[in-house]
Amino acid sequence: MRCRYCMPREHFDGHEFLSREEILTYEELAFVVESLVPLGLQKIRLTGGEPLLRRDVCDFIKMLPKELDLAMTTNGLLLEKFAVELAESGLDRVTVSLDALDVETFQAMGDTKETPETVLRGIEAARLAGLKVKVNAVIRAGYNEHSVEKIAERFIGTDVIVRYIEFMDVGETNSWDNGEVITGEMMRSMLENLSPIEPNHIGEVANRYKRGTQEIGFIESVSKPFCGDCNRARISADGSLYTCLFASKGNDLKSMLRMGANKSQIADAVRNIWSKRDDAYSETRGKFSSEKVEMSFIGG
Ligand code: 5AD
Repeated sequence: MRCRYCMPREHFDGHEFLSREEILTYEELAFVVESLVPLGLQKIRLTGGEPLLRRDVCDFIKMLPKELDLAMTTNGLLLEKFAVELAESGLDRVTVSLDALDVETFQAMGDTKETPETVLRGIEAARLAGLKVKVNAVIRAGYNEHSVEKIAERFIGTDVIVRYIEFMDVGETNSWDNGEVITGEMMRSMLENLSPIEPNHIGEVANRYKRGTQEIGFIESVSKPFCGDCNRARISADGSLYTCLFASKGNDLKSMLRMGANKSQIADAVRNIWSKRDDAYSETRGKFSSEKVEMSFIGG
């Protein structure tokens, strides 16, 4: 997939991937995770790129502490194949990106020959395997406004939670334009019978609603930024810690790891970085001009 809003083909075809030595091994990644548990780490999300493309990803999931909430964000194309193994390896939840149910829109947004049927089969397999499932739908003006109602309808009567996401100005390559943002407010006006519900926890990124028995949420980082209680840190495949999705620079952990740092040294470094963070990109949008990292590099 080369989703137009994330990895547009004109920028990412012939894209050079990182070499083996540049990316952290599963052992190194698990070491970082274990180092951070004493700091209060509760949840790990494996994201991408596309996490199901990395070889033996289930072996990595098995290495992660089971007391953590383990989630994955995936485009769903390989989910049917991996669902059972993911669940057996200890994964708790998957979030599956799905922007349209009709083939034409799906293929236009994803710049792909794949079809939504494959993703839907993946979602079904994940549910049957006992994974909790959310669907992420990015809504972009001129592409898929009609998906708002269609996607909610499709999952009525299931326990799949739908999250609609405003088109965000992450990275530098997706030709973001404010005029193409369909706000959460606009999306809500396309859906009937919504009643607001409380956030699950502090740092919840979605504004949640009930619609009958269904849960629907809106991630409104453009129209209603939520930097104030953001509690997410991201680690890139090559071992940099990013304290904001819209950051331009990460903090190198790989060198520390490869120089033999122990877990408490890693924890100290991260505590230091975290306590000094002052990112609030979504609240100050447009006031900075430094180049932002791509979401395909640090994950969503
Ligand atoms: N705006 C909003 N959502 C995006 N995603 C990727 N790029 C963007 C963007 N520019 C979504 C993906 C995935 C999640 C991690 O973020 O569709 O579901």
